[in-house]
Amino acid sequence: MAKTPSFTCTACGATHTKWSGRCDACGDWNTIVEDAGLSAGGKKSLGANRGSAIQLTDLQTEESPPPRTHSGIDELDRVLGGGLVPASALLVGGDPGIGKSTLLLQAAAEFARAGVKTIYVSGEEATAQVRMRAKRLGLSDAPVQLAAETNLRNILTTLEAEKPGLAIIDSIQTMWSDTVDSAPGSVSQVRSAAHELTTFAKRKGVSVILVGHVTKDGQIAGPRVVEHMVDTVLYFEGERGHQFRILRAVKNRFGPADEIGVFEMTGRGLEQVTNPSALFLSERGKPSAGSVVFAGIEGTRPVLVELQALVAPSPHSQPRRTVVGWDGGRLAMILAVLEARCGIPFAGLDVYLNVAGGMKISEPAADLAVAAALLSAREDAALPEGAVVFGEISLSGALRPAPQTENRLKEAQKLGFTTALAPSGGKAIETSGIKVQQMHDLTSFVGEVFGA
Ligand code: TYD
Ligand code: MG
Repeated sequence: MAKTPSFTCTACGATHTKWSGRCDACGDWNTIVEDAGLSAGGKKSLGANRGSAIQLTDLQTEESPPPRTHSGIDELDRVLGGGLVPASALLVGGDPGIGKSTLLLQAAAEFARAGVKTIYVSGEEATAQVRMRAKRLGLSDAPVQLAAETNLRNILTTLEAEKPGLAIIDSIQTMWSDTVDSAPGSVSQVRSAAHELTTFAKRKGVSVILVGHVTKDGQIAGPRVVEHMVDTVLYFEGERGHQFRILRAVKNRFGPADEIGVFEMTGRGLEQVTNPSALFLSERGKPSAGSVVFAGIEGTRPVLVELQALVAPSPHSQPRRTVVGWDGGRLAMILAVLEARCGIPFAGLDVYLNVAGGMKISEPAADLAVAAALLSAREDAALPEGAVVFGEISLSGALRPAPQTENRLKEAQKLGFTTALAPSGGKAIETSGIKVQQMHDLTSFVGEVFGA
C-alpha cells in the first residue's frame, strides 16, 4: 500500500497532511517535521484472537484504594496524589537544567529506602557521573541501581530480568528503538519508546517515570507528544536565577491535577519548602505603587504572591506589553476591560507585569489583583497598607467571587494582613479578624480604592 507522507509537530504532537512553517494546533514555528513512522495503509482484516471483556459489576471491588508508596518527600508525594501508584507511568517535563535529574535521583533514593526496588537509567550521563552527583547530594548509601543505556531493547531486557518496582528513564528523548528508523529524539522514536515503556509498566507491574526536556527547536520532540500515554504528567518549573522550583501536576489519573510542590535548589540538591504561603512575597516595608499582594490558591494550599506592575509612557508607536509569570492574553483582556468599562486608557503606555519569586499564576482569581497593580502603577498610588486582593473580572466589568474565599482570607490574616479587597456575592464571607471590602464591579473598585 502506498505510504502517504505525514507531518508531525515536535512540540505538541499534532499530525498534519502537509508541511507548514507554523503548527495550527499549538502556534509554534518551525516545529513540523516529516514523520517516517506513520503510514496510512496497514492491515485491514480483523485480528485472529478475541479480546476479553468483563462486566463492570463483575470486577472485584477492593475496599481500600491501591497501596501507594511514599517517598517521604512530602512535596513530591502530595503532587503525586498521595504517593506512587504501582504500575503507573509518569512523565516529568521541564526545561533543560531546571533540576529534573536532581529531583528524580533524590526521589529514587527515597523510594529505594522505602523498600521499592529502584533502577535509574540515564541516557545522558555515565554511571560514574550519576554516582558523583549522588555523592554530592549525600545519597551514596541509597540502594538504587544505576544503568547508563539508550537502547530501548536492552533497557526492557534489563527491567524484565531485574523486576524492579520503579524504573526512572532520564530522558525519554535519548532512548532509541531499532524498530523505528529515525534518529533518537524524533517524534516517532520518542513516541515508540514511551509506548513500549508504558505498556511494559502496565503488563509487568513496574512503575516508570519518564523524564522529558521541554525543547525550543523543532529537531527534538518535546514531552507533550507523550502526555496522552502516561497516567500522570508533572512539570518542573522555575526561573533561572531564582532558587525556587515548582513541581506542578497537570494531569493525574490517580489524584488532583492542580497540586504543586515547592522546592528550593541549594548546594546540596533540592530541599522541600513545606510552607510556601509567604515565599513569593518580597521584603515588604511600606507599600509601593504598582505592587499588590494576591491571595491565591495552588491546589489545596493558599499561597500569597506579590504582583508588580510598571506603567510608563512609551517611546514606541506600538507600546510594549511584557508579562512574566502570567498569561499575556489575559493581560490584554484586563487592559481592554479597564479601558472600555472604566474609561482608563493604556494607549501610548508601556505595561510590564511581573509575578515575584519566579512563580507562575494561572488562576482567573488573579484578575482583580492584576488590575489593581496596573491601576496603582498608572496612578502612582499605593494600595492601603496590609491589603490583599483577589477576584475574577468578567468582560462586562463585573467581579466574580473566587473559589475557596475563606482559605484565602484565613491565610492572609495569618500572615498579618488586615484588609481584603474582594468581589461581593458568593458564599457569605466570615470576617474573622480581617476586614473584607466587597465590590460588585471594577468601576466601584476603582472608585473605592483610588478615589476616581
Ligand atoms: P539537573 O538536575 O542536571 O537538570 P536537568 O536534569 O533538569 O537538566 O540540574 C542542573 C542544575 O542544578 C545545575 O545548573 C546545577 C544545579 N544544582 C545545584 O544547584 N545543586 C545541586 O546539588 C545539584 C545536583 C544541581
Ligand atoms: Mg538531566
